[in-house]
Amino acid sequence: MKKCIAVLAGDGIGPEIMKEGLKVLDAVAKKYGHTFEYKEALVGGCAYDAYGHPLPDETRKVCDSADAIYFGAVGGPKWETLPAELTPERGALLPLRSIYGLFANLRPAVIFGPLADAASLKSERLKGGLDILIVRELTGGVYFGRNKVTSLALKEGTVQGEYAVDYMIYSVPEIERIAKVACEAAMKRGKKLTSVDKANVLESSKLWRKVVIDYVQKKYPMIQLNHMYVDNAAMQLATNPKQFDVIVTENMFGDILSDLASAITGSIGMLPSASLSETGFGLFEPIHGSAPDIAGQGKANPLAQILSGAMMLKYAFGLSKESNAIEHAIMSVLEDGYRTGDIASANTLKDKILSTSGMGIKVAEYISKVEGK
Ligand code: IPM
Ligand code: MN
Repeated sequence: MKKCIAVLAGDGIGPEIMKEGLKVLDAVAKKYGHTFEYKEALVGGCAYDAYGHPLPDETRKVCDSADAIYFGAVGGPKWETLPAELTPERGALLPLRSIYGLFANLRPAVIFGPLADAASLKSERLKGGLDILIVRELTGGVYFGRNKVTSLALKEGTVQGEYAVDYMIYSVPEIERIAKVACEAAMKRGKKLTSVDKANVLESSKLWRKVVIDYVQKKYPMIQLNHMYVDNAAMQLATNPKQFDVIVTENMFGDILSDLASAITGSIGMLPSASLSETGFGLFEPIHGSAPDIAGQGKANPLAQILSGAMMLKYAFGLSKESNAIEHAIMSVLEDGYRTGDIASANTLKDKILSTSGMGIKVAEYISKVEGK
């Protein structure tokens, strides 16, 4: 198979972890006889520095012509004080999500067995492993309210005098389409769906709950559906995460809960994501940020980036076997005791603590050892 991938490494640790992600994709291409063509483009703060905009037309063109977008991370203190629409987050990442209609954000929180001792919970609470899928709505809610208020004739400006305003807006079709994605995922797993909202306070959440109930009743009555307020969901995740199978929630709640879920699995450096459109086009990125504090030190854990590459193979290209090969290679690397600093424990042998590139090399090397072609 031949595929063209837009490679947007971004800022901070983005370029270092992306390099390892590509190394592993190259190993997959070699073993399974595929051709991945990489088209690199600048995004975020580095693009602002070079072009005066965090999402330049050049980068848009590269994404338009690619089969998928492989994304690192953007942002950093250097660009925080720019006008909002020029910051890496509001000027590049959010527009990319909305331009390509990437409303469905899949964030699997899985514990790799050998990492149980790096997890933040007592091991008895994680017995038998953990495998949660967070389905985060990605193009609505409070992140994008300001884009909608004009059309809804609510706009009075987002900042007035001493006030600042954000709008959390959801429509029925927006909720239905993410409910559909979550139900389809639940059907392939444990058929259990938890919808997280704040329906005791927010109007948008009341609508969310009603639409999810109606949708599941009508289309997937065989799914066991329950509802949780987001504050309770945070507590439940931190105390009894094994009760969850698929979680579906709005944009900001999903952002917060997925960071929490990552801590449960050992490190935020482990969690990948896929952001998909209705047509199946996707952007694949780790859930963590650009970590400017450790950039350039070779300390960053590239596994979330590498696993995001595995999600790209599976969701964008339908290459499940190849995607599984990456996961198996990572499992074997971890079983053999190799760790980056963030997932090392007191028992980790010194010579098994790897740098960013050391980990990428190891995973790429193990790809060739995975059985089956
Ligand atoms: C994420 C990030 C982004 C978000 C930031 C960088 C805008 O935290 O992908 O989880 O809040 O969605
Ligand atoms: Mn986040």
